[in-house]
Amino acid sequence: MALGEEFLSELRMRTDIENLISSYVVLKRRGKTLVGLCPFHNEKTPSFTVYPESQSFYCFGCGSGGDAVTFLRKIENLDYIDAIKALADKVGMTMPDEGGYDKTISDKRRRILEANRAAARYFHSCLMAPEGREALEYLLRRGLTKKTIASFGLGFAPNSWHSLIDHMRSLGFTRQELVSANLANESIKNDRKNVYDNFRNRLMFPVIDIRGNVVAFGGRVLDDSKPKYINTSDTLVYKKGQGIFALNLAKNGNSERKLILAEGYMDVIALHQAGFTNAVACLGTALTKEQAGIIARYADEVILSYDNDGAGQAAANRAIQIFSKTGIKIRVLSLSGGKDPDEIIKNHGPERFRALLQGAANDTEYKILKARNKYDVSTDDGKVSFLNEATDVLSFISNSIEREVYASRLSGELNISKEAILREAERKYKANRRKSEKAQFRQIQRDSQPSNDPVNPDRAKSPLGAKAEDVLLATIMKNPDFLEKIDDIQPEEFITSFNARVFAFLRDRIKQNLPLDLSYFSGSFTPEEMGRIALLQTMSFTVSNTVAECSDCIKTIRREKANMIKVDPAGASDEEFLKLFQNKTKDT
Ligand code: UTP
Ligand code: MN
Repeated sequence: MALGEEFLSELRMRTDIENLISSYVVLKRRGKTLVGLCPFHNEKTPSFTVYPESQSFYCFGCGSGGDAVTFLRKIENLDYIDAIKALADKVGMTMPDEGGYDKTISDKRRRILEANRAAARYFHSCLMAPEGREALEYLLRRGLTKKTIASFGLGFAPNSWHSLIDHMRSLGFTRQELVSANLANESIKNDRKNVYDNFRNRLMFPVIDIRGNVVAFGGRVLDDSKPKYINTSDTLVYKKGQGIFALNLAKNGNSERKLILAEGYMDVIALHQAGFTNAVACLGTALTKEQAGIIARYADEVILSYDNDGAGQAAANRAIQIFSKTGIKIRVLSLSGGKDPDEIIKNHGPERFRALLQGAANDTEYKILKARNKYDVSTDDGKVSFLNEATDVLSFISNSIEREVYASRLSGELNISKEAILREAERKYKANRRKSEKAQFRQIQRDSQPSNDPVNPDRAKSPLGAKAEDVLLATIMKNPDFLEKIDDIQPEEFITSFNARVFAFLRDRIKQNLPLDLSYFSGSFTPEEMGRIALLQTMSFTVSNTVAECSDCIKTIRREKANMIKVDPAGASDEEFLKLFQNKTKDT
């Protein structure tokens, strides 16, 4: 990894971490720092802290931390070089040519995107050609207009083993490129590798990301055969469970920051054609955390519009759970007049769907409704059970006015005093909060258990020594000039190999008179390790920052290391082992 110092330092200068993180997290100023709800773990009270002064962040809840690059890597799931690129893009810098970094991965990505785009064009032209007649008629029969077909770039993969491959080869794409884009599959027959088109005789739905790249395809059969859809499997540009269909279009037609989430490609297309241009769908799988996170970035409210069969309702329940962790508002449509949005619009027109949208129960109403359906509320038993569940639901509402509204409604319906309902909801609310605080505390305790430290597993060897290393590193990070004033300690003398690496890195930079900001670490350490380094940096606010403390730390490290050799029989030589044995007999 060899991006020039100059480039990195300019990038750092132009990057404003507060600005960057604000586009993902709502930050509130607290003195010199900013705090917000951590995007990397689920929390109700903010422990995610941004330090504009050092251009870094740290979450006291989950231990993630680092510089702007680390943040981008984690939140956008990028590798180092792509995060640097994205950041450079944001601040209007171009990447240096002779960076010496490994360009092959990004070259491969670019080729796959080019292949996908060319394939999408080809599929679309096939749909419009005589060979696509049957497919085009199918789409028109289902009510799509030619305009809709064009704006979604729908296509047709001919009923042939080679037509796409032949076309793409004529454009200069290699077999290997087509396989890595999952446009072609490989098989081995008689010791010979063969490739053949992955999508055959299918309607093609290109999946386009928000930058306009064709990242994947879904292909639907034209009849009732199985599998109904084939989707692009994981490639360098697409991971299953990450794509969101039509977000490229929906993000524009979405001034209210509301997205409608439907189940199928066809539902989304029908919704857009009917004027609901904020509809999207998840691809292939049930909603994942990643997809919920992406949706939450583009919307303040999501309207679940799943099929009204058993599978659809199960999917909706799952989606509610996943979305509830994002803090986004959730509404659930109970569809009537058809099994899915496509059918409702076809049978009754867009007006019917609009009415559903306006009357859609919100998340709380939906849950209460579901609880009510479970019990016979005309009996006392049923009433008690229902109320018990309903107050559970209320107990998760943090807004007391909202709680009051629902409590009044329940009170009227069940003829039970509003106060009693509210008291019970509040009791549960407080219990929830205590429970989550306790859980958070236990997590912190667990994280600080030496044996449970995944970033620095050596910590278990000597918690005391590791702690001394931490303080030493924190102090040197803040006071690089101390390095010359303290005992000459070598990385090999460190007890934990992680801290040894950090020290070696620090020492080399100090010797070369280079700056020590976190951003320079992120090329050499993983995002998880960056969290630890950011923690070291925050520690430097609380340690004494004196040469004397450094000397104490060095003494502790050396003493602990010497003790370790004594007490670790497995690692000791015969002679040392004998001595150890003698010591023991002497002591007893
Ligand atoms: P549906 O079966 O509801 O399909 O699956 P649909 O898109 O609404 O199609 P029509 O209306 O029957 O023509 C919903 C979604 O589940 C995924 C696809 O993303 C589909 O859009 N799916 C379904 C698959 O990935 N594979 C399958 O075999 C079936
Ligand atoms: Mn469907």
